[in-house]
Amino acid sequence: MIEIDSIRKKLEARLTPARYEHTISVSFTCMALAMRYGYDLEKAELAGLLHDCAKRYDDHKIIKKCEKHGIALTDSELRSPAVIHAKLGAFLAERKFGVSDPEILSAIACHTTGKPQMGLLDKILYVADYIEPRRDKAPGLTDMRRLAFEELDEALYQILKGTLAYLERSGHFADEMTQKAFEACEELRRGKEEPLAENEDTKGKEDASADDGSKGINKNSRKGHRRKKRRKH
Ligand SMILES: [Fe+2]
Ligand SMILES: [Fe+2]
Repeated sequence: MIEIDSIRKKLEARLTPARYEHTISVSFTCMALAMRYGYDLEKAELAGLLHDCAKRYDDHKIIKKCEKHGIALTDSELRSPAVIHAKLGAFLAERKFGVSDPEILSAIACHTTGKPQMGLLDKILYVADYIEPRRDKAPGLTDMRRLAFEELDEALYQILKGTLAYLERSGHFADEMTQKAFEACEELRRGKEEPLAENEDTKGKEDASADDGSKGINKNSRKGHRRKKRRKH
């Protein structure tokens, strides 16, 4: 078992106080989401603790370190270098902190951009990084924090959507993986909505009261959260 205390001490010595505070906050938020969605608490904590471990370096140094360690970077990543600390972070988590669990490494590696077919820990970390209680500059945080504990997939979709909208509005380049992650979420969301539409057609043939109740909850929770959100890496 990896010693959480020793990881914390190393991170505290290497990160700025604000980054360390964010790191601790993300790790506890990951654990809270893991409790809600039935995921391993220790793995969630480790992913949260180590997700920004490469943030001790600036973007230029991060790229240099990726080159040195043979970490392949896409043209798209080089156009939005702020996302690259995720890849280097996964590398450092494995090599310097002894993490071998592929789910933890995957979650760290995609925490800035998301990716298609995200696993549960990927989603938990991506969302926790946005809603953690020390963050106060992202718009719509109150709604997003509630949504994260109601429908994780919907929260992920809304954060990705808001991120792309913000990047477009502000003239920043969006890494292609963020667009792919968003499209995958959109497809999943459509797949979830289609059975609901079918249920509506068959209303009255089955137990109408129970059916209406569940549809109403889903529709309302989505309607109330279609807002643009800004994501900070
Ligand atoms: Fe972070
Ligand atoms: Fe990050």
